[in-house]
Amino acid sequence: MRALFSLTLHALLITLPLFAVATAAATPEVFAIGTRSFALNFEVGTDGRLYQHALGTDGDRSKPSRNDEAYPPAGDGYIYEPALRVVHADGNTSTDLLYTGITRTNEAAGRELVRIGLRDPAYPFEVALCFRTHRDDDVVEQWSEIRHSEPGSVQLERMASASMLLPPTNVTLTHFSGDWADEMNPVSELITPGTKVLDSKIGVRAHQFGNPSFILSLDGPATENSGRVLAGSLAWSGSFQCAFDHIGSRVRVLTGVNPYASTYHLKPAETFTTPTMIWAWSNNGLGGMSRKLHAWARDFGCRDGHQPREVMLNNWEATGFDFDFERIANLFEPAKQIGTELFLLDDGWFGNKFPRVNDGAGLGDWQPNRRRLPNGLAPLAAAAVKHGLRFGIWIEPEMVNPKSELFEQHPDWVIRQPLRELELQRQQLTLDLTRPEVQDFEWQVIDGALGVPGVSYGKWDCNRYLTQPGSSWLAADRQSHLWIDYVHALYALMDKTARAYPKTELMLCSGGGGRVDYGALKYFHEFWPSDNTDPVRRVRMQWDYSYFFPGMTLASHVTHAGNRPLHFACSVAMSARFGMDLDLAKLSAQDKAVCAGAISAYQRIREVTHLGELFRLERPHDAARGALDFVSPDQARAVVFVFQLKDGDAAVVRPQGLAPAMRYTVRELNPAPHRAALPQEGQSFTGEALMRDGIVPSCQKSLEACVIELAR
Ligand code: GLA
Repeated sequence: MRALFSLTLHALLITLPLFAVATAAATPEVFAIGTRSFALNFEVGTDGRLYQHALGTDGDRSKPSRNDEAYPPAGDGYIYEPALRVVHADGNTSTDLLYTGITRTNEAAGRELVRIGLRDPAYPFEVALCFRTHRDDDVVEQWSEIRHSEPGSVQLERMASASMLLPPTNVTLTHFSGDWADEMNPVSELITPGTKVLDSKIGVRAHQFGNPSFILSLDGPATENSGRVLAGSLAWSGSFQCAFDHIGSRVRVLTGVNPYASTYHLKPAETFTTPTMIWAWSNNGLGGMSRKLHAWARDFGCRDGHQPREVMLNNWEATGFDFDFERIANLFEPAKQIGTELFLLDDGWFGNKFPRVNDGAGLGDWQPNRRRLPNGLAPLAAAAVKHGLRFGIWIEPEMVNPKSELFEQHPDWVIRQPLRELELQRQQLTLDLTRPEVQDFEWQVIDGALGVPGVSYGKWDCNRYLTQPGSSWLAADRQSHLWIDYVHALYALMDKTARAYPKTELMLCSGGGGRVDYGALKYFHEFWPSDNTDPVRRVRMQWDYSYFFPGMTLASHVTHAGNRPLHFACSVAMSARFGMDLDLAKLSAQDKAVCAGAISAYQRIREVTHLGELFRLERPHDAARGALDFVSPDQARAVVFVFQLKDGDAAVVRPQGLAPAMRYTVRELNPAPHRAALPQEGQSFTGEALMRDGIVPSCQKSLEACVIELAR
């Protein structure tokens, strides 16, 4: 209901400009929507329809055909994958869209909102194609708004966020698939005739098997520093579809909510706003593409994107469910000594009738366990604060174990299919967030945890996806709304949380990387990329996430996973948002010193790694090592990371992004014990010399790493 209300309110707000301008604006024949180096070129045909010129073919002024329609609707002539398919109130399954006008609103310096109006000549049915351009970042946000005033509801059967035309030859698609603890495996392929579909049909934890982010390169396989590339990232945490329809003369990219089983009944005067598609363009390869996307993300894609992140100690890998007040409180002193700034208490702190001592019980009963935490969370938070640490808490508000008081009291609150045996995943079920009582309940859970005095951090987890998508709240003929209404209600809850707790830092987690997208991330500070914390796997995974997400949003914790040398694990974590998940009491003195050294090095460089620009230098996939560097905005400092994955020969690493004329002093940070110093340690060179001649790193054997600071 709440979601519906916000839908309607939004409808009122956005309707007026659309109607008002359609008559006021002069009709241009051709126009472009663009940024500094990116342009979408449109043309209004003599038939009144809106056409797009394929991206990157700016000189092409040949007369467009129906295949070039900018947002093709189904049922009246268009024969391929449509952007829109509608059943009108009278049952007519065809839609035609004619151009009505364009408005451009200057929102801020370098930021413009462009709305193109389209209207069906036979029905009071409209679509606004919306674009927010970020000139300097070369980023365009795109979405569509659909509304009508027909005498009854219309059925939206397909409603793309974006429809984008590319030339038919030589376009390479890189996308990312995976599974729990194995996220973000890149696959690159040429787009060939037929339709390639990347999608998710699992609604919640929707990205477990594939992320809704991809890269299109127009000049053959992309490299870091050359080629025209377009990154696409759908800001949607639910089921998505990205379709690449090669129709011979064109490639049409269609992205948005997954139309699968998702018919949406839109009432008159309501507006359906699609999720936002984020595009980032570069004429200079993948590096430029991600640097621009990261710059945009720091401003608009995450919270407090100009605030470097603190060092976290998390107890999950160290204690699992096995802890009590004493065991946790005993971690604080060693945590502080080693330099940690923030402690996060993970799963297992709640449940009494059904204590949460493993993942089989207690989820849903958010009262602190009386045996483990006799006086609740507040004394533990206070103990952390007394030791000079911030305190954080794990919650999973959307879920319930059947073994819980919540389920005993409200069996009808879960998403399930009547008459079917309940299917559990991780022994749990998803609460039906379309139901108002569930929305209130989940808010109480969040508010109850984050409102504890001394809590300044929260981890919001989500550990299963939907397999039996039935809602006892939605009417029988509105079951297909579940996929979309769930996500709208989720965002309303996340938004409320961010507003109520503006100073509380939040981590987005979903059994690892099951929910990593800019739709949710804008309410959060960081995400948990994977439950796989083996640093060898993380070198590649963090590289692949870094195409789209800045390192400051990417949580990377030092653990014993994979039994790698701690120096290597620390170095990998230092290249993102650094955390530890170790039982400090069990570390040897040498390992403790390595961790303390890594923490102080991280604190020294985080201004550079979090606020600076990323240059991916050596791709670690199928290679003996990986390397990257970050350069501060004023280019006065840089940090180079080299991760040796197999034995190698200590070949020079060539940093990028330095100021050629500036002189930098070379210094290895937190050098590994018993290893020879860098040959160039303490010496100064110009940026030009460093970029040309490189630096000999101190690592060459498998699982050695080297972190080098270059400072003016
Ligand atoms: C998920 C998260 C982990 C941890 C556990 C707790 O798997 O990804 O980091 O919080 O849940 O149950």
